[in-house]
This record gives sequence, structure tokens and C-alpha cells, in this order.
Amino acid sequence: MENSIDSIKNNFLDELNSVRNAQDLESLRIKHLGRKGTIQELYSKLKDADPADRPGLGKEINALRTIIEAELNEAKSRYAVRKSRQKVDLTLPGRTPSVGRKHPLTLVQEEIKKYFSRLGFSVADGPDVETDFFNFAALNFPENHPARAMQDTLFITENILLRTHTSPVQIRTMMEQKPPVRIIAPGRVYRRDTPDASHSPFFHQIEGLFVDKRVSFGHLRAVIQEFARYMFGADIHVRFRPSFFPFTEPSMEYDFNCIFCRGKGCKVCKYTGWIEISGAGMVHPNVFRAVGYDPDVITGYAFGMGVDRIAMLKYNIDDIRLFFENDMRFLSQFN
Ligand code: DAH
Repeated sequence: MENSIDSIKNNFLDELNSVRNAQDLESLRIKHLGRKGTIQELYSKLKDADPADRPGLGKEINALRTIIEAELNEAKSRYAVRKSRQKVDLTLPGRTPSVGRKHPLTLVQEEIKKYFSRLGFSVADGPDVETDFFNFAALNFPENHPARAMQDTLFITENILLRTHTSPVQIRTMMEQKPPVRIIAPGRVYRRDTPDASHSPFFHQIEGLFVDKRVSFGHLRAVIQEFARYMFGADIHVRFRPSFFPFTEPSMEYDFNCIFCRGKGCKVCKYTGWIEISGAGMVHPNVFRAVGYDPDVITGYAFGMGVDRIAMLKYNIDDIRLFFENDMRFLSQFN
């Protein structure tokens, strides 16, 4: 009897392998699990077996039945899938695969790069993890100077930090090349900030630096003014306000006319008519000294730009967090 249990099992597996369609499968089921099937036959033979062997044999038959049932079920579900696939209407138009799109910040960054590359600026790069030297010291932030508190820094060690601005790329570039230098440096920056609609612990800046003989404040103003028009239209005005940055002298901050009300005053600009973009100024002589340039011969201007801010204005987005949540419904709207 044991032999026939084994041989039924082996036969069944062979037979299952040669099943080609649902009908074959049904015949196989009847052959083994049907009322006159092999399993029933085994059960009925059980009474002829030695009473002492019956419980063991019974268990084996049960096990065999379980295996056959499971295998048949599995095969059946395979056929069901195949069958439903066969119902596909081949005359239907295909589904267009969804194509990835560029992130709105990438789009704005590319537009800014295009403007400056036409003016002869090339793109420079620096690491997100910076040293105190590049982020502060070489930019004329003296040690323990309160100016360091202007930016809430995320420190890794006492000397290593996440860069709080893209200005360290100015230093890295000037240490590597001689004047003239004409670069922009786009990148991510980090600050210890609680996220809300207008704050994020990381955001994006584009740094600009133009160093040569006889570079003037007038050049800087013209470049920023033209940039505003290029980005937002001919009727956009720029306002320059005196300010302080350790690495520029004189320093200023600049605002664009509010894009939404065109300067009339609205909720977005808090009824001032102006939107803050970032800071700029003439490179401080100490910065030139730190990189080995002669401040008596060389002059230069530098500026920063908040990319997220510009993208929010450009696309009428009222919450900076949307840029970083990777919600496809948001991201797929930009082209
Ligand atoms: N790095 C400054 C900041 O993040 C912005 C800035 C100000 C950049 C003046 C400059 C500049 O290049 O000249 O607040």
C-alpha cells in the first residue's frame, strides 16, 4: 500500500507537468480527487491493511490528498490569470508610459544658469559638508563674531558643518584659479530652522561671483536688474537696500517688485509691494587676502539668490515644503 501511495504521488506530479489547459487540469482533479479517484480508492483499501498500520497509512493518504489539492489549486490560479489575460482587447489603444519630469527647482535653476551663461559665467561646485574655514573664516566671519549667529548652523563637529550658504564656493573657486573669475554656484544649503510654509531646514541658493580689474557696483546692479526682467518680465523693478554681510563691503539686500500685485501691495508681499530675494555686494578686501588675491589690484562683486523663493514666485507656490515632499500630483504639473 505504501508503494501505491508513492507511485500515485509521482504519477500525479508527472501528470501535472504535462497539463496544458484547464480541461486537462479538471480531468486530473477528477482522476485523483473524484468520487472514484485514486485517493478514494486508497481510503477504501485501508480496511484491508493490518490494523496496526492503519493510522500511519491514513496519515500518509491525508498528506497526499493535501499535496494534490494544493498543487491543483495553484495550477488553477495560474490558468485563471492566463485566462483573464486572454481577455485583453488587443484593439484598445496602448497606455502611455508616464514620463518623468524635471523638478520645478531644477527648471528654475536651469533658467537662471542660462541667463548667466549668456553673460559668460560658468558653473562652479562645492561640497554640502563644509569646514568652518570655507563657510565662515575665509569669508571674513571672525571667530566668535556675532555675525556667525546670522545663520543658524547645523554643526557636525566643531569644525565641520553643513554649509549655511553657497558663498564658500567663492573661496574654493578663487583658491583654484587666478582672476578674472566669473562663476555661478547653484546648490543646497542648510540651516537650523523649523519647517513651515516659508522655512525649510534645507533650501537652494545660487551664488554669483565676478572678479576682475575695475569691476564696479554699477555692474552688479545692472546684472541683477536685468536678471529680474529676464525672469519675471519687463515691468519688474528691483530695490536695493543697504545691509551687512562680513564678506562684502558695501553690502546690500535686494527685492523684486511683488510678482502677484506688480508692486501695488497684496497678501504675498505683506502689502509692501516688494519681495526679498537675497544679498549682494562688493567682495571684501579680507576675502581677497584670504585667497591670495591683491585687493589693491582686484575688485569684484558677489550675490546670492534664493532659488526656492524665485521658484515660488515663478509658479505661484505658497508653501516651500511642497518642493520636498515628492508628491507626484504636485511634481507632474511642471514642464
Ligand atoms: N550668503 C548670504 C546668505 O546666505 C547671501 C549673500 C549675501 C551672498 C551677499 C553673497 C553676497 O554673495 O555678496 O545670507
